[in-house]
Amino acid sequence: MGGTGAFGRALAERLNALGREVVIGSRDASRAREIAAVIGVEGAANEDAAASADLVILAVRSNAALETARALAPVLGTTPLLCVASDLTFTDNGVLPGRESHSLAEAIQEIVDAPVAAGLQSLAAAHLTSSNPPEEDVLVCGDDDRAKGPALELAQRLIRGRAIDAGPLANARALEGMTAVILNVNRRYKIHAGLRLTGFK
Ligand SMILES: NC(=O)c1ccc[n+]([C@@H]2O[C@H](COP(=O)([O-])OP(=O)(O)OC[C@H]3O[C@@H](n4cnc5c(N)ncnc54)[C@H](OP(=O)(O)O)[C@@H]3O)[C@@H](O)[C@H]2O)c1
Repeated sequence: MGGTGAFGRALAERLNALGREVVIGSRDASRAREIAAVIGVEGAANEDAAASADLVILAVRSNAALETARALAPVLGTTPLLCVASDLTFTDNGVLPGRESHSLAEAIQEIVDAPVAAGLQSLAAAHLTSSNPPEEDVLVCGDDDRAKGPALELAQRLIRGRAIDAGPLANARALEGMTAVILNVNRRYKIHAGLRLTGFK
């Protein structure tokens, strides 16, 4: 879902290059098919894309994530969902976390019966489209291994660092908040910053 956007499209391109079967979802099936044809994958309306997937990646604009989750809930069933979105507030003083308590991913878990994982928030679309996988880690959290497992497996293929299990879904509060930190750093230093955790042997 959101495969017509900057992140979803870049992810679809990378996964296709890795030989994964990808269906781009959009609210507009013809837009999905148009962009999918350029990449060489399939495109469909969000509901149809979700119905045929093993893992649904929710990569819509963050302020549309809850609405999209509500629309998809009936077709998702128990298909795992990976939420990459972060609720953010853009101010004159910089980018701030958009929520004070629950993360977007936890709010989505309250809407859908499907198991939800959250992750990839710190992975820039620009890094997905570069020819070399980025030297960074990706954090994934979730309460249910049916979602966290496939999300970690997918994340590991996108980077040269580690796909790291960051614990329960409530930790999406930190991952989504970290997006605000990264966006401020990106603006300040004119870079696409990523994350790296130390201490692994
Ligand atoms: N950009 C990055 O580097 C990056 C990195 C990590 C995570 N993310 C996360 O990935 C998500 C997508 O980011 P993006 O930069 O790709 O955003 P984007 O280009 O603005 O939008 C992605 C897609 O959201 C869908 N959308 C927009 N308004 C909608 C609505 N009202 N209802 C349902 N769908 C709507 C659109 O798909 P259709 O119009 O085709 O339905 C659009 O193509 C965000 O949640 C962001 O936090 C982004």
